Amino acid sequence: MADTDRQAGCILIVDDQENNVRILERMLRKAGYDQLVSTTDPRTALALFEEHQPDLVLLDLHMPYLDGFGVLGQIRPHVPEGSYLPILVLTADISTEAKQKALSMGAKDFLAKPFDTTEVLLRIKNLLEARFLYLALQQQNDLLEMKVQQRTRELEDAQVEILERLALAAEFRDDATQEHTQRVGEYSARLARKLGLPDHAVNLIRRAAPLHDLGKIAVPDSVLLKLGRLTDEEFELIKSHTHVGARILSGSRHPLLQLAEQIALTHHEHWDGSGYSPAIRGEEIPLVSRIVAVADVFDALTHARPYKKAWPVAEAVAEIRRQSGRQFDPRVAEAFIELLREDGLLQEEAPVPVTAADRRHDATGA
Ligand SMILES: [Fe+2]
Repeated sequence: MADTDRQAGCILIVDDQENNVRILERMLRKAGYDQLVSTTDPRTALALFEEHQPDLVLLDLHMPYLDGFGVLGQIRPHVPEGSYLPILVLTADISTEAKQKALSMGAKDFLAKPFDTTEVLLRIKNLLEARFLYLALQQQNDLLEMKVQQRTRELEDAQVEILERLALAAEFRDDATQEHTQRVGEYSARLARKLGLPDHAVNLIRRAAPLHDLGKIAVPDSVLLKLGRLTDEEFELIKSHTHVGARILSGSRHPLLQLAEQIALTHHEHWDGSGYSPAIRGEEIPLVSRIVAVADVFDALTHARPYKKAWPVAEAVAEIRRQSGRQFDPRVAEAFIELLREDGLLQEEAPVPVTAADRRHDATGA
């Protein structure tokens, strides 16, 4: 190589013999290495190592105050796990035992004093090449990892979007704004958090709750959008949406869909056992369904549907209070009202009598 060729890599030299340091520096500069840091005091080695983050360390073993093993012990915790940092031990004479000790402490190779220029430069060149190959590989791995994470995020986004569109399909005929399912998801998630559920459960509920009425897909328009009283037969059809939804969602390996199945099946059960399946009551109803039940009814009451007007918030809250301990778990109902209070949506509660027609869909709860 030409003397003027610049070589990449920062080299730290630690040797208490000034003369050795000068020889090495001169040899390395002549070979084109111009990022050199050196010290004759081993106690300063760690500070220099941290400051300069060298690609190679040339380390003497026999030094006063702190020998080469001491320096190795100090540097080791500062070398990132799994990374490749070549440390080349400089020594006049070394026992097999000391060699093994140095290797076990992170040394990669040994250089005998007095130095043979060709040998020193070749060893350094090889070790630096290995160092830079390792860094390039690491960079490549980081890049790949970033790409995998990006693809995973895209896939997750696509899954979430598909679930949202599925929920939308269920509400399509019934909800002009098509926002009901998302609001139920948000309210349910916030309610779950308020009730102390962990973050991962809150996130699952946010995505699973919007699918609660998926089974409405199977309910004909003539029944779903009917103005006025439902016949017993029509009411049975409405009720079937819980089982239909659960069947559509059944058999999945994914916790999100398993949770959605549970919600679809039991979101119309009542705390006092007066829901769709009288056999289930109280805490037998999954907590998540007791949560969705309150969020769903509140949102349905406070927004207009083809067959009903929107209720004022205070009136809907009064209804939730009335149904606490009947339709709703009192603890969940109370937490929900607290949530509305925090949102500033609840200044006063002034229950206003509502018509039977207006109440239809909280009683049958389609
Ligand atoms: Fe429902």
